[in-house]
Order: sequence, then C-alpha cells, then structure tokens
Amino acid sequence: MRRAVCPGSFDPIHNGHVEIIARAASLFDEVIVAVSTNYSKKYRFSEDERVAMVEETVGGLRGVSAIPMDQGLLADFCKEHGAEAIVKGLRSTVDYAYEIPMATMNRHLTGVETVFLQADSRYTHLSSSLLKEVQSLGGDVAEYFPRAVMKRLLR
Ligand code: PNS
Repeated sequence: MRRAVCPGSFDPIHNGHVEIIARAASLFDEVIVAVSTNYSKKYRFSEDERVAMVEETVGGLRGVSAIPMDQGLLADFCKEHGAEAIVKGLRSTVDYAYEIPMATMNRHLTGVETVFLQADSRYTHLSSSLLKEVQSLGGDVAEYFPRAVMKRLLR
C-alpha cells in the first residue's frame, strides 16, 4: 500500500490543484489531501469549508480523501498517517527554489520523500491568491475553478 500526502491551504482548491491530485492518485494507492491552517494567516474560507470543497471536488477519485492538518509539522503528519511521500506541483523555477529546502528538511525529519510533478502548462500561472484577487475585482475565472468552488466564491 503506497500512500502520499498532497498538502496545502487550498483557499480554495483550483483546477491546478485538482490536476496534481488526480495525477498523484494515479501514482499512489491512497492520497490524503492535507488541508493546512496557519493561524497567523487570513483565509477567505474556514478550514471546514476548505476541506468540504476538496471533498466535493476530488473526493470521488479512487483512494483520495481530505483531512485537516491542524498545527504541527507536515513530516510528522505524514508519519502519523503512514505516508511515504509528499506530492507537490511545480509551476516554475521559483516554486523549485522555494520547495527544495522544505523537501530536504522533511526528509531529514522523518525520511518522507517529496515527489514533484510538473504543473500542466494550462495551470502554471495559477495560484489561489491571484484567482481570488481577479475574481473579487470582477474578472472571469470560472474556467480555473471546479463548479462547486465557483458557486461558493459567487455567494
Ligand atoms: O498552500 P500553501 O499555503 O502554500 O501550503 C504550504 C504548506 C502547508 C505545504 C506548508 O506551509 C507546510 O508544509 N506547513 C506545515 C508546517 C511545516 O511542516 N513546516 C516546516 C516545513 S519544512
């Protein structure tokens, strides 16, 4: 049984995330989408809402589940949940430079490996914060969000 964790704040989940989670699900038997909350950050959606949107969007994929990560180290979360790998999407060399020290530290902490998947070219310009900004200023971002998420954004 090979289990991986896809971590993130998912505020909210967008199609770039969905594509990476779906590819992770084709590589691993189980994928836990770990929804993190950093209490010093402001979120558009509550943790419950973010978990619910992940479930509504990718919960139907084989082996995929969503759970809150709470506070604490991602490396410990992976160990507690029997996950041998963290899966992350890389959009650019900027992501790479940001991610490598964390991947190295996570491997140092508990031996968990990080697997990087190259983001699909349709989504390399996406981030939840950019999409929220454009949407809040009236831009059309519907093609970048799952329908269930778009409905909540429009509420
Ligand atoms: O979607 P985000 O906000 O970019 O996700 C960041 C996340 C949750 C992957 C990252 O902040 C994280 O790993 N947080 C857990 C705390 C931790 O383990 N920190 C040390 C990293 S080496």
